[in-house]
Amino acid sequence: MLTEGLSYHLLDGKAASKAIRDRIAEQAAEVTAKRGRPPHLAAVLVGEDGASRTYVNSKVRACEKAGFRSTLIELNADISEEELLEQVDALNKDPELDGFIVQLPLPQHVNEDKITLAIDPTKDVDGFHPENLGRMVLGLSGFLPATPAGVVELLRHFEVPTSGKHCVVVGRSNIVGTPMSILMSRNADPGNCTVTITHSRTKDLAAITRQADILIPAIGKPEFITADMVKEGAVVVDVGIHRVQDSSRQKGFRLVGDVKFDEVAPKCSWISPVPGGVGPMTITSLLLNTLKACQIN
Ligand code: GUN
Repeated sequence: MLTEGLSYHLLDGKAASKAIRDRIAEQAAEVTAKRGRPPHLAAVLVGEDGASRTYVNSKVRACEKAGFRSTLIELNADISEEELLEQVDALNKDPELDGFIVQLPLPQHVNEDKITLAIDPTKDVDGFHPENLGRMVLGLSGFLPATPAGVVELLRHFEVPTSGKHCVVVGRSNIVGTPMSILMSRNADPGNCTVTITHSRTKDLAAITRQADILIPAIGKPEFITADMVKEGAVVVDVGIHRVQDSSRQKGFRLVGDVKFDEVAPKCSWISPVPGGVGPMTITSLLLNTLKACQIN
């Protein structure tokens, strides 16, 4: 049911990314002219997960469009943890490379924490290494995790006020929910929110999400957030992205977020779509971090 409500504004991540990436391309050209080689990002893809391949391909394409060099390293799903650690070590030592990412999730037999810890923090453009997460917590310069930083840039681009607002983050993952809660509570703009972080053990989740001025679902459950969980006039930034079967589509699936968009959007002042919201902003953050890496390495 479509609820009668406010007319909402779209947090259009595609449009915001286009504007930011145009500036990134200018800066990349300056780096190339100064150093004689373009910014260079490598992405490691292990195994055959279709969604991961799509994301990595988008990252590689975005690099090329911005005038970066990119290298895609594709490895078999049965690679041993030791071999993957050797690959990481080689990338750490490669003087021609400014930054790299190892796309997650990794196959079950590989310990993701071990791989993350092995990445040189000065090349960790995903911002997943504890040194970069610690720097973020302390407000020191470093690489911010790409998705939460992308959400912040999306709010900045559309000049959405955040100071003094109640921000509710749904989900506490290491790569989104937890860092997101820290960025939104920082003494910064965007930031300065009063933040509540919720998770699978939270009691009466809807009672809390309904208090949110800014709601950031990052739980990994398709269309989990329904209209009754959202306050009239809220800002909703949907971090989820899922393939759901849809035989009417050529690919056999369509993409949805953690939010039931059609019923939630009419209640919102601002809402991000899926696709075309946070996804492109994550890639934009990755490009920004790679440019930053050029200044360090
Ligand atoms: N898997 C889902 N999101 C991400 C991301 O931002 N970076 C990496 N490396 N893997 C992911």
